Amino acid sequence: MAFLEIHTFPDPILKQKSQPVTVFDQDLDETTKSMLETMYVSSGIGLAAVQVGILKQIIVIDLKSGEEDSSLREPHVFINPKIVEKSGTTFSEEGCLSVIEFRAEVERAEIITIEYQDVTGNYQKLDAENMMSICLQHEIDHLNGILFIDHLPLLKQKMVKKRLTKLGNNEA
Ligand code: NI
Repeated sequence: MAFLEIHTFPDPILKQKSQPVTVFDQDLDETTKSMLETMYVSSGIGLAAVQVGILKQIIVIDLKSGEEDSSLREPHVFINPKIVEKSGTTFSEEGCLSVIEFRAEVERAEIITIEYQDVTGNYQKLDAENMMSICLQHEIDHLNGILFIDHLPLLKQKMVKKRLTKLGNNEA
């Protein structure tokens, strides 16, 4: 396991599309474990591989990420996830480990069904609602090069991106 560096906006890799995983081996297993560890250390509830510089369709999510007792955690790994059904509309405040110091309300589908593969390559299906649904939509967006700030109204989006770019450049 290794702690991976998280790429932040305006790093251009975040706009790239991730490729499907075709090999389900030890390396993939190690990658998902390192992603989970990186997410826990960073206090996030979801992480897409592109955020750690890997352009593969890999997502990890743990809505119990904040639990101090690691036995209470609920790590999930989704490989090659696709939304096959969605319904309803919901709004909630989102943040992102790749978008520092900014949160905003984003519109999402309320309930979704996804198809994905687990870390051993088996095909799975999941109905998700509430936080799991929102988190999955946010992370699947990452695999398509989309950030939650790309969902904001254009004017606000421009303002926020300008500020974040300035912030990012000052840090570099
Ligand atoms: Ni994110």
